[in-house]
Amino acid sequence: MQISPSILSADFANLEAELDAIRNADWAHVDVMDNHFVPNLTLGLPVVEALLRVSPIPIDCHLMIANPDRWAPAYAEAGAGSVTFHVEAARDPRHLARELRAAGARSGMALKPATPWTPYEDLLDDLDMVLVMTVEPGFGGQSFLADQLPKVRAVRESIRRRGGEIWVQVDGGVSARTIEQCADAGADVFVAGSAVYGAESAAAAVDELRALATRHTH
Ligand code: DX5
Ligand code: ZN
Repeated sequence: MQISPSILSADFANLEAELDAIRNADWAHVDVMDNHFVPNLTLGLPVVEALLRVSPIPIDCHLMIANPDRWAPAYAEAGAGSVTFHVEAARDPRHLARELRAAGARSGMALKPATPWTPYEDLLDDLDMVLVMTVEPGFGGQSFLADQLPKVRAVRESIRRRGGEIWVQVDGGVSARTIEQCADAGADVFVAGSAVYGAESAAAAVDELRALATRHTH
């Protein structure tokens, strides 16, 4: 059970200190948005490179960008431990996933709430993680979409049938109130932005979320 706090809800003027505040987490989740794939703009490769120089924990890049085939491999080459692209934006998701691995990253593929899982099941051989979005991508602080839980179960079931260690990540509206249902459905990597950085102590929120998820392993 791994916790990946999203720095989208952190203080962008103090990112080094904000990364330090979550050093007890497993990953730092970095949301890259290009104002094309989603209607919001955050940060890109130069900032990720700067974060990689100071982060005490590995970086989990979530790329909400158009044309990931062109832009995603550079994040892996820069040293991100995990790079996740959106399948809706990818021209050749299998080739891209292979390129990410070849560049030394774990390869992740994300699904928006309206995107079904079954058509992409065959891609599992080239993936290390599937991200099931539990909000519409673009903004932090939205409410959790419980109707995505059957998709989490379906992804976990495909992985179980195929075998191998592939992670299932949930992202959006994950909090102490919603994390148990995600763990129960088969998620094992939990992204939380507002629930961590909105808490009085980010580190305590990370520990609490991990404890709740661990108690609810399916
Ligand atoms: C949304 C981002 C999320 C976001 C989650 O598009 O992908 O990572 O930061 O924020 P919360 O946890 O506040 O829903
Ligand atoms: Zn994200």
